[in-house]
Amino acid sequence: WLPSLSILAVAYLVGSLSGSLLLGRMRGVDIRTQGSGNAGGTNAFRTQGPGFAIPVVVFDVGKGALAAWLGMRFAPQVEGYPGATAHGYAAAFAAVLGHVWPLWHGFRGGKGAATLAGGVLVLWPWVAPVLLVAWMAVILATGYVGLATVVAGLSLVLAAWWTEAAPPRMWFSVAAAGLLLFSHRGNLRRLLRGEESRFQRARLLHR
Ligand code: G3P
Repeated sequence: WLPSLSILAVAYLVGSLSGSLLLGRMRGVDIRTQGSGNAGGTNAFRTQGPGFAIPVVVFDVGKGALAAWLGMRFAPQVEGYPGATAHGYAAAFAAVLGHVWPLWHGFRGGKGAATLAGGVLVLWPWVAPVLLVAWMAVILATGYVGLATVVAGLSLVLAAWWTEAAPPRMWFSVAAAGLLLFSHRGNLRRLLRGEESRFQRARLLHR
């Protein structure tokens, strides 16, 4: 179990490198003190604009992909251990945990969506565009990015159920959706109160 644990620890530390907080340091901003207070791509866009948000998202998607790849590549080749795919999923999830509770940034990070997307891109490539379409559709219909992310997370579970996914993929999907629900609890509360901030200009259906 030691080799497995080491992979997960490395994946967690990679996930703990937050794109918005590291790039924010370079321009002297901590976006946790602005907008929604979330250290993620959406709040980077909201508070700093696309020039800042795009590299942030690329960084966070990239580290999720890297963690998944590391998990698969360095899975112990010992009899009795679960396979490389299981390690890939576990490492991707560890990176998402790192993004949400980052060691390097006082355990106050983002909500995990971009990091999760990177892991899904590597481990389950065809489902990634499906989730992107679901995510975009909710944003275009409502302007709520947080809601769109929760819907994308639930779509991941639906896709796993629909395709009768094997246990590592199924557990990963359920755990990831559960974590997204948890990390977006504030967004969901604000939605119910009608106080969630929305991207009005993204709402094609309500012009
Ligand atoms: O990935 C985060 C997004 O789903 C919501 O971000 O800043 O609106 O809470 P935010």
